[in-house]
Amino acid sequence: MGTFQVIDHPLIQHKLTIIRQTKTGTKEFREIVNEIAMLMGYEISRNLPLEDVEIETPITKTVQKQLAGKKLAIVPILRAGIGMVDGILSLIPAAKVGHIGMYRDEETLQPVEYLVKLPEDIDQRQIFVVDPMLATGGSAILAIDSLKKRGATNIKFVCLVSAPEGVKALQEAHPDIDIYTAALDDHLNEHGYIVPGLGDAGDRLFGTK
Ligand code: URA
Repeated sequence: MGTFQVIDHPLIQHKLTIIRQTKTGTKEFREIVNEIAMLMGYEISRNLPLEDVEIETPITKTVQKQLAGKKLAIVPILRAGIGMVDGILSLIPAAKVGHIGMYRDEETLQPVEYLVKLPEDIDQRQIFVVDPMLATGGSAILAIDSLKKRGATNIKFVCLVSAPEGVKALQEAHPDIDIYTAALDDHLNEHGYIVPGLGDAGDRLFGTK
C-alpha cells in the first residue's frame, strides 16, 4: 500500500491560507503555488537514492554522498498542474517534464483526456504527477492509468489540497502510489469543489473565469 502524507510544515500552512482567500489575486496566487510546490519538493525528494563519490577537499580525500542520478519526471495534469512545475524544478532541475491534458466535463464531472506528451523513457523514471486539487480523484486516476499503460511503475501523486473522497478513490484505484498533499480538507460540494478549498485552481492561476 502506498503512503498518504500531509506535508503540513508551518510555512506551507501559512502560504496555503493566503492562496485560499478570495482576495488573493492571480500574480500572488501563482507565486505562492510555486513556493508551496518548492517546499513540497523538498519533502517528496526525501527518499531519492544516494551513491558514494570520492572527492578532494582542500584538506583530504574523502568519500561523500551525491544523488545517484535516478531519472525523474514531473508530470503536471493540465491546466492547473502547470502551476506546480517550476517550484519543483527549482530543486530538481534535471527532471524531465511530461504533460497530461484533462478537462472536466461540467455535466458529468468526469475527466476527459485530450493530450499525453511524455519523455520517451517514461517507464524507467520516478514520476511525480502534480495537480493542485485532488477533488473526486477522477483526473488523477485517469492520468495514472495513462502512465501505467505506457509502462510507468514508480509514481507519486503530489497536490496542494485534497478531499477525503478523492484520496479514497485514488487509493482504491491505485493502491501502490504514494500521495502527498499540503492539506486534507473537509469534503466535496455538489459541484465537485473542495470545501473549504481555494476555488478553481486553474482559473485562479491563469486569471480566467
Ligand atoms: N478543481 C479545482 O480547481 N478546485 C476544486 O475545488 C476542485 C477541483
